[in-house]
Amino acid sequence: MVDHATAAATSPAPAAPVRAKMVQASKIYTDPAGAPKRVLDRIDLSLAEREFLSIVGPSGCGKSTVLRLLSGLTPVSEGRVVVGGEEITGPPKGVGFMFQRDTLLPWATVSQNISIALELNGTPPAERKGRIAELLQLLGLSQFGDYLPAHISGGMRQRAALGRLLAYGPELYLMDEPFGALDAMTKMTMGRELLRIWSGHEKSVVFVTHDIEEAVSLSDRVIVMEGPPGRIRSEYHIDLPRPRDLREVRKMPEFRDYCDRIWSDIGYSG
Ligand SMILES: Nc1ncnc2c1ncn2[C@@H]1O[C@H](COP(=O)(O)OP(=O)(O)O)[C@@H](O)[C@H]1O
Ligand SMILES: [Mg+2]
Repeated sequence: MVDHATAAATSPAPAAPVRAKMVQASKIYTDPAGAPKRVLDRIDLSLAEREFLSIVGPSGCGKSTVLRLLSGLTPVSEGRVVVGGEEITGPPKGVGFMFQRDTLLPWATVSQNISIALELNGTPPAERKGRIAELLQLLGLSQFGDYLPAHISGGMRQRAALGRLLAYGPELYLMDEPFGALDAMTKMTMGRELLRIWSGHEKSVVFVTHDIEEAVSLSDRVIVMEGPPGRIRSEYHIDLPRPRDLREVRKMPEFRDYCDRIWSDIGYSG
């Protein structure tokens, strides 16, 4: 059955342990004239262990800021951000970030880019080669380990960036429109890979996208933001069966229903 959207800040405490949460979290920047600018306004958000949560909302509503606060890269102005049970004051352990544009090191090969992540998480040198081969295989990049990022396609670069994230092995994946620059087919393939990996490793994901269908097809829950100032407008528990075939799931009437309701919620009536 389809749940009804619940108002902001009324989300029930998830049954599974909490991986991360924001409590009345606000972010205030200073505009060029020196005046305070409230970019996020009292966000309450709780992410369960193994939950796949997506955030959608118009450009500028603060989606990336939510991820930056969770990553510890940007400090919260008011309220609290808790990751892995601890209030964060800087980048917490076990959190990995992936952006829309890959941020591979341009002078390093695909394998070297992955190797650096293994180095960072303390994988012993003797194990790195095998792990790199495994990841390249998983992402269909076995033939491209020795290529520089500039010499492979955009889709392959995003695969390599995902490989680097997996190599680092975070408990919490923060993904900021990671497939936003890819064509529809590659996007679907990447989504499928991500779901496969996610279901096998039982990590938590916060996935920002402007693509409502992508959000519904991947997630356990979709949060709709509005703003500025950024607030949570509503949330949808996506009660679609797993494992999900990303093409088949799109044909389900419940899927269409979720998407339609989110579109109307955002204010688009066609
Ligand atoms: N470092 C910053 N200084 C001032 N304003 C910022 C800064 N970063 C983001 N903003 C502002 O915060 C708002 C939300 O930005 P962002 O989180 O990137 O939105 P979204 O990802 O939803 O498009 C925007 O109005 C943006 O201009
Ligand atoms: Mg953004």
